[in-house]
Amino acid sequence: MDKFRIRGGKPLHGTVKISGAKNSALPAMAAALLTAEPVTLHNIPRVRDIITMGRLLAFMSATVSVRDFPAETYTIEAKSLNDAVAPYELVKTMRASILTLGPAIARAGVAHVSLPGGCAIGARPVDLHLAALEKMGAHIATEHGYIQAKVPNGGRLKGAHIVFEKITVTGTENILMAATLAEGETILENAAREPEVTDLVHLLRKMGAEIHGDDTSTLRIRGVAKLHGAVHAVIPDRIEAGTFLIAGAITGGELTITNCHPGHLGAVLAKLEKIGVNVEQLDPTTLRVRAAKKLCASDVTTEEYPGFATDMQAQYMALATQAEGTSVITETIFENRFLHASEMIRMGANISIDGRRAVVRGPAKLSGTTVQASDLRASAGLVLAALVAEGETSIDRVYHIDRGYEAIVEKLQSLGAEIERLHSQ
Ligand code: EPZ
Repeated sequence: MDKFRIRGGKPLHGTVKISGAKNSALPAMAAALLTAEPVTLHNIPRVRDIITMGRLLAFMSATVSVRDFPAETYTIEAKSLNDAVAPYELVKTMRASILTLGPAIARAGVAHVSLPGGCAIGARPVDLHLAALEKMGAHIATEHGYIQAKVPNGGRLKGAHIVFEKITVTGTENILMAATLAEGETILENAAREPEVTDLVHLLRKMGAEIHGDDTSTLRIRGVAKLHGAVHAVIPDRIEAGTFLIAGAITGGELTITNCHPGHLGAVLAKLEKIGVNVEQLDPTTLRVRAAKKLCASDVTTEEYPGFATDMQAQYMALATQAEGTSVITETIFENRFLHASEMIRMGANISIDGRRAVVRGPAKLSGTTVQASDLRASAGLVLAALVAEGETSIDRVYHIDRGYEAIVEKLQSLGAEIERLHSQ
């Protein structure tokens, strides 16, 4: 397993270009299963989860071709969907594989998708995805670790009025995709409003879907008999952008962040301002972050969009260790998303955990040691802590970060960070 070796203490300077959003690209790729015609997707990030999704779609009989210039472009053509099976071997490495369930059952009338199981950050059930599909007429059984979904008598799913008990991002995306090919109207209430959901709406509309209610928590979808091919560029990754904003701030440097969408970063920008970080918008897709004279502790609570994203919580915790005073970080989305805290404590951070609350007292002088990454965003938080720590930090299990950050080592090196990847023997 690869590791990162980071020597901290260097302010980062320069310009970094943000890649396409992994969490937009994954549902967009799955949406290609809804049509027999090719779907071409631009601005796809070169990260491990995308490779896994490509493999999964190929396993499900789609042709997946990749063109690598100027950015990564995927063309996915699912002429037929005979074998709508998402096997455990692929699903276990990436929970977002569940996104093939909605499109597969809507198009083929049948789907077999391995149950994702728990993960480091929480139990993460998919009961809300399944209950919604049942309401749309699917028969669902879970046997031998697989979700066996079928529309009776080879028919189509039926439109339904679905009120999500809890806001779920991939749940909204799955049912949204399924509804585009259902008979009649589907109403999704308490739907997720994440920009990645809206991006999926835009793609589906290009494919011929009839959807109303973009950016709101009520989506109305009038099902059509068939969808067609489309060309779409996925939005920039707001979590990567937020991570680099914190990288600039925590190291006391100055970074220009290009190809981002500041409108998707509202809660992060507001929080950074509160803690004392100066971020300026230079043009509609460019931000500049400068070192704060002094960071002052500020509390944060993770929430669904447009609130502060749980996917930025670990990175914010790294920043809070450097702020003067006490910051209380409350995680409301996942029940076990503080594993990075114990690693930061090993680096010298003063953090105490009480259930879903982490109390961070700063500023703490961090020092390098060996730490372990437990999930994608936890890894990013540890990289940020290592960039400001004295001496050398070795981060193990960086395959987690490779799942969702394109060329993180090369991007940080280009900004002056002393970071290298040590390949496993
Ligand atoms: C998406 O996961 C993202 N993944 C996650 O990104 C992100 O952390 C999360 O949304 C929250 O923003 C992708 O978009 C591929 P949820 P998802 O369903 O859809 C509970 C990253 O690092 N729930 O919105 O799986 C669930 O357990 C990641 O890129 C149910 O109870 O998250 C959680 O507590 C990790 N039943 C809450 O809802 C269900 O059927 C929100 O989860 C579904 C969800």
